[in-house]
Amino acid sequence: MSKPKALATRPLFPPARAILNEQCDVDYCTVAERISRFELLKRVADIVVLVWLLTEKVDEELLAAAPKLRIAATVSVGYDNIDVAACTRRKVIATNTPGVLDDTTADFAWTLLMAISRRLVEGDAWVRAGTWPGWDLDQLLGGDVHGKTVGIVGIGRIGRGVARRAQGFNMRVLYTDQVRITPQLEKELHVEYHPIDALLRESEFVTLHVPLLHDTRHLISSAEFEKMKRSAYLINTARGPVVDENALVDALERRLIAGAALDVYEREPHVHPGLIARKDVILAPHLASASIETRTKMAVMAATNVAALFEGRRPPNALNVEALSF
Ligand SMILES: NC(=O)c1ccc[n+]([C@@H]2O[C@H](COP(=O)([O-])OP(=O)(O)OC[C@H]3O[C@@H](n4cnc5c(N)ncnc54)[C@H](O)[C@@H]3O)[C@@H](O)[C@H]2O)c1
Repeated sequence: MSKPKALATRPLFPPARAILNEQCDVDYCTVAERISRFELLKRVADIVVLVWLLTEKVDEELLAAAPKLRIAATVSVGYDNIDVAACTRRKVIATNTPGVLDDTTADFAWTLLMAISRRLVEGDAWVRAGTWPGWDLDQLLGGDVHGKTVGIVGIGRIGRGVARRAQGFNMRVLYTDQVRITPQLEKELHVEYHPIDALLRESEFVTLHVPLLHDTRHLISSAEFEKMKRSAYLINTARGPVVDENALVDALERRLIAGAALDVYEREPHVHPGLIARKDVILAPHLASASIETRTKMAVMAATNVAALFEGRRPPNALNVEALSF
C-alpha cells in the first residue's frame, strides 16, 4: 500500500525524518528554498500531512488548497500561526510541541535578562571596535541582577522555568496570569501573585511568557510603559505582537524604561527601525529554543504526532481532539 503524502517545510533532523519516513512519503523542502507562500499553496495540493514551522501560516486559504490534509503538525509550542477552528471544521488535526522547549527557552530569557542589565552586547561591540581604552571605575555600569525584583507575565511552563532560575539569584519573583496558580505551587516556586499593574510598578525586570492571543496582542503598550520603573528592563521571548513596538520605541526614547531585550518582533523578520540603532536594546533573531537538543526534540515530537495518527492512536499533542471524532 502506498504511504500517505507529506510535506515538511524544512529538512528537519535525522531522528525526526526517520519517524516520518516510516509512515509517509515525505517531500522535504530545503533550507535554501525557504518556501514562499505561493509555493507552499502549490505543494500542499495532494498532501495528507503537513509538518511546518511558525514562519508559515495554516489558515482557511491553505486548508482550501489542501483538500486531503488530515494533520498539520507545527514544530513550535506557540500556535498563533494556525487557525485551529478552521482546522476543526475541515477535520484537520492540529498539533504543537509543548514541554520539550521550556528549559531552553527559560535559559534564553535569562541570557537576555543578564546581557541587557550588564550591557554585555555594548561591551562586546566596544572591544571589537578596538577603541576600548582598558578598565575604568565607571565604565559601562549596569544594574545588578541578584536581589532584584523580576515580574513574570504568564506563569505557564516557560514562566515557571524562569521563576525557578530566579531563586538562584536571590530575587523577589512576582507573577501575573489570567489563572492564579495554587498556593502550594506559589510556595514551591517562591512567587507572589500581583495584578499586572502592580507587577509593572514593582519589577526591575518584566519578562513575557504569554501566548499570542486576541487579548495578549499589545498587552504591553504605552499605558504599561508609563507604569514601569524608569530603571526597568523588558524581556520578550514570547511573541512580538505581545508588545506594541511603536510604544516601546517611544518609551525608550522618553527613557520611561532603561532598556529592552527582544527575541521576537511584531513583523518578523522586519525589525522596527527605531530599535536598530539603540544601545539600550538587545535584538536576538528568535532563537530562544535554538539548542540542537531542543530543536531536535521539537521536530521529533511533531513527527511522533503524525506517526500516532497513522498508527491509530490519538496524536499526543492534538490541539483539537474534536477533529478526531469525525
Ligand atoms: N522565542 C521563542 O523561540 C519561543 C519559544 C517557546 C515559546 N515561545 C512563546 O512562549 C509562549 C508561552 O509558552 P508556554 O509553553 O509557557 O505556554 P503555556 O501555555 O504553558 O503558558 C502560557 C501562560 O500564559 C497565561 N496567559 C494566557 N493569556 C493570558 C493573559 N491574557 N494574561 C495573563 N496570562 C495569560 C496562561 O494562563 C499560561 O499560564 C508560547 O505560546 C510561545 O508563543 C517562544
